[in-house]
This record gives sequence, C-alpha cells and structure tokens, in this order.
Amino acid sequence: MAKEKEKKREDNRRIFSGIQPSGRLHIGNYLGAIKNWLTLQDDFDCIWGIVDYHAITVRYEPKELEDRVIDCAASYLACGLDPEKSILMLQSTVKEHTELAWILNTVTPVSWLERVPTFKDKSRQHSSNVNMGLMDYPVLMAADILLYKANYVPVGEDQLPHLELSREIVRRFNHRFKEEVFPEPKDIISSGANVKGLDGKNKMSKSLNNCIFLEDSKEDIWKKLSTAVTDPQRVRKNDPGRPEVCNIFSLHKLFSEEDKIEYVKKGCKAGSIGCLECKKILAENINKELSPIRDKINEYKNKPDYIKDILWDGKKKSEKIARETMKEVYNSIGKQYKFLE
Ligand code: TRP
Repeated sequence: MAKEKEKKREDNRRIFSGIQPSGRLHIGNYLGAIKNWLTLQDDFDCIWGIVDYHAITVRYEPKELEDRVIDCAASYLACGLDPEKSILMLQSTVKEHTELAWILNTVTPVSWLERVPTFKDKSRQHSSNVNMGLMDYPVLMAADILLYKANYVPVGEDQLPHLELSREIVRRFNHRFKEEVFPEPKDIISSGANVKGLDGKNKMSKSLNNCIFLEDSKEDIWKKLSTAVTDPQRVRKNDPGRPEVCNIFSLHKLFSEEDKIEYVKKGCKAGSIGCLECKKILAENINKELSPIRDKINEYKNKPDYIKDILWDGKKKSEKIARETMKEVYNSIGKQYKFLE
C-alpha cells in the first residue's frame, strides 16, 4: 500500500478543485465536493481553491465577500481538509489565474462558451446582469485547473461540460502552439454529487433557498426538513411511498446507518411510517454528522489569523507551481521577450 501511494506521487497526479465563496457552505457542497476531497488528499497532490473571482460574476454584496471567504476557509478546515497534506488557497491571491485565463481566451471560440449549459441557465436566472465574466466563467475555471497542470478534477455532474471545455481548450492550445504544455484534465465524480435541495427538484443552492447549511443548528435542520418535499404522490400518512423518488430517502442514504436506511425504506413502501417520522430520524443523523463540523467552523472563524497564515502559505506554494507553468506558456506564445531581459 505504501508503495502504491509512493507511485501515485511519482506520477505527479495533481488535483485541483474549488468552491465559490458565494455564501455559507451547505450540505450540497459537503456531500458533492468536500467529503470526496477528504478521501483524495492522502493519495494525491491536491490544491483546494476558494474561487472568489468566480463568485463575483453574479450580483453580490462587496461588503460581505471577506466574511464569505473566511467562512469558506473555516468550513474547509472544519470538514477535515488538512493544510499539511494539501494546499488551501484563495484564487485571487495568485494573479496567474486571471493572467492565464486571458491567454486561454485567445484560443477559445465564443461559440463554445455560448453553448455551455450553465451559461444559458445563469443568463436566464440573472437576466439583468449577463456580463462577460459570466460567459467567461468556464475559461477562468480552465485556467484554475491548467495553471497547476492538474490531472484530475473532482466535481459534481453539473460541472462536466466545463471540464469538457477545459479539455477542448487544452487541445486547441497544444495544437495552436505546437507544444504539449498542458495535460487533459479528467473528472472524478463524487458519489453524493446528485443531492437535490429541499425542494426535491433543483441542485442545492443558496440563491434558491433550499439548503441546509453546515452551520445550521439542530433546530434549524429540523425546521427545514419538516417542510422539505418528499414523494409528491404520498398524500396521507398511510399511503405507500416510493423511496426511490424521494429526496429525503437520498439524504438518508448519505447520512444514516444501514439498518435505519432499511427501516425507513420498508416502512415507507408499506405506508407504516409517515414522512415526519422518517424526517425525524434523518434530522438526527444529519445533526450527528454536522455538529462537530459546526463547532469547528465557529472555532476557526474566531481565529482569522490562523486562517490568514494558512491562505498565505497556500498562496506561496501555489504561486511557485503557477510561475513554472507560466514560464512555459510565455515561451509557447512568444512572450518570453529577450530584449527585456
Ligand atoms: N465552477 C465550480 C462550481 O461552481 C467551481 C470551480 C471554479 C471549480 N474553478 C474550479 C471546480 C476549478 C473545479 C476546478 O462548482
């Protein structure tokens, strides 16, 4: 096993992923991203970004951004991302992210960006603010990944088109400049990536008000779950339900123990336990898992100097890798100007 780990490192298997600091983190971020990252940080060279330049592509409150960044970092640490094992960094502190994004822009056809599904969705959602940044979002994301020559990118399914675009950009770049500067990044899909919000319909997202936040108290969790959407066909308590279409059951599978999962599955199908009882069990289990995380988030948030040290260290480490890549990029595109040396 030790040997295998050694080999993985030798292969220089680098991973990059990130979350936007667009609000407090919720269990969708936890199940769809961070929980999966925890299993990767022992075996790969991981960089976990707080991608603040992505977060400003939609309307946001400038006064709140700093708190959101601190919140996100505190959540990363509280969930168990370990700065001794991985690099934790804030995107905007490494200028090369935006610099590389600009260069990649020049090999990315506008038509590729126009057909990205998240761009179409977001243009509809934010129709009064369809800005260039929103459209260019996937190119900045490609820059995040390629700057570190990441081989793998753990993401939720909704991000797959972005990753495909990153690969297309790599092929374009390598072909245009006749250099194999970047490897094609592959996706790693998280098992909990399909979790829906409490509306049972949409992806969990702060703007849709359908989230359980990592910091929610036991009471908050219960309040939110008690009104969460279940199997719409199950009207009365004794109606037999369909766990396979119920979002609450999906959450049980991610938070509850085997025997409880079986219990609610059987009870629901037979109509012998009601949605409320099922939700009570779930609320307890979610609270069990979140309560130590919640405590740690609060601890870390009270130590902004500690967070600052971690992010400074992350900046230095990532900058070093980024600058190496940029040297190659400058060479490829002809920007290694000799007369300036
Ligand atoms: N677009 C990603 C999301 O919303 C966040 C992100 C930005 C990202 N840059 C990245 C994810 C690079 C993986 C790699 O979930």
